[in-house]
Amino acid sequence: MLRRITEGFFSLFIYIFYRQIGTKFRTDALKFFWDIFFVVLEKIGLKFDVISSNYIKLYDDIVEKEICMAKISSKDRILVIGCGSLPATTALIAMKTKAEITTIDIDSRAVHEASYFFKNLNLERQITVEHADGLKYSINKFDVIFVLYGVQQQKEILNYLAENMQDTTKIIFRTVCDTQGRLSNDSIDVSRLFLVKDHVSSEYLGSVDSLLLLKKR
Ligand SMILES: C[S@@+](CC[C@H](N)C(=O)[O-])C[C@H]1O[C@@H](n2cnc3c(N)ncnc32)[C@H](O)[C@@H]1O
Repeated sequence: MLRRITEGFFSLFIYIFYRQIGTKFRTDALKFFWDIFFVVLEKIGLKFDVISSNYIKLYDDIVEKEICMAKISSKDRILVIGCGSLPATTALIAMKTKAEITTIDIDSRAVHEASYFFKNLNLERQITVEHADGLKYSINKFDVIFVLYGVQQQKEILNYLAENMQDTTKIIFRTVCDTQGRLSNDSIDVSRLFLVKDHVSSEYLGSVDSLLLLKKR
């Protein structure tokens, strides 16, 4: 009974925030508040199986599209910047690609919680979790790097990646684009830093878009 009430509540919440509010406001203006909101949501959600399993389902569609877009294989070495306490994206990439993944988070508690989450899914051998800042982390050995939406200092991290990436590195950048496909945050000039090769959008995560960024030659 309690499980069904929680599920119903969560479905309503998702419908209101992602399908109604998220799709109507294609803007980055509220990113600061969304980031805090999701950090808290993940910390609560982690404690309830029903919330964490539904939360993972929300990300399934965008992760599937990102894997196809970047043609990620099991041989790729993947870095995910900003796993969060409830690391849905990282877990899904691991399950879908079978590739080895390193994921980092600037919040030591989130690192601890994510490690526990991966252990419960028997993914601890495939995923290494580290406490680190994406702005300073060494990226030489990675073929694919995910910069997730809730990451702070996105502009600085993209500058750092553009300067330090290898010729063949693929970057997946989660962001919000307007209806014309331009980044809602106009302080980030992705086309100056990278070749924007492709993009996909989520059906379920409101206005989240993913760009495939390659080295500019
Ligand atoms: C990116 S989201 C979580 C993503 C979500 N759990 C998912 O699976 O798609 C929020 C997390 O990013 C982390 N974060 C924010 N800025 C960061 C940075 N510069 N480097 C590493 N982690 C960062 C926050 O501490 C927070 O835990």
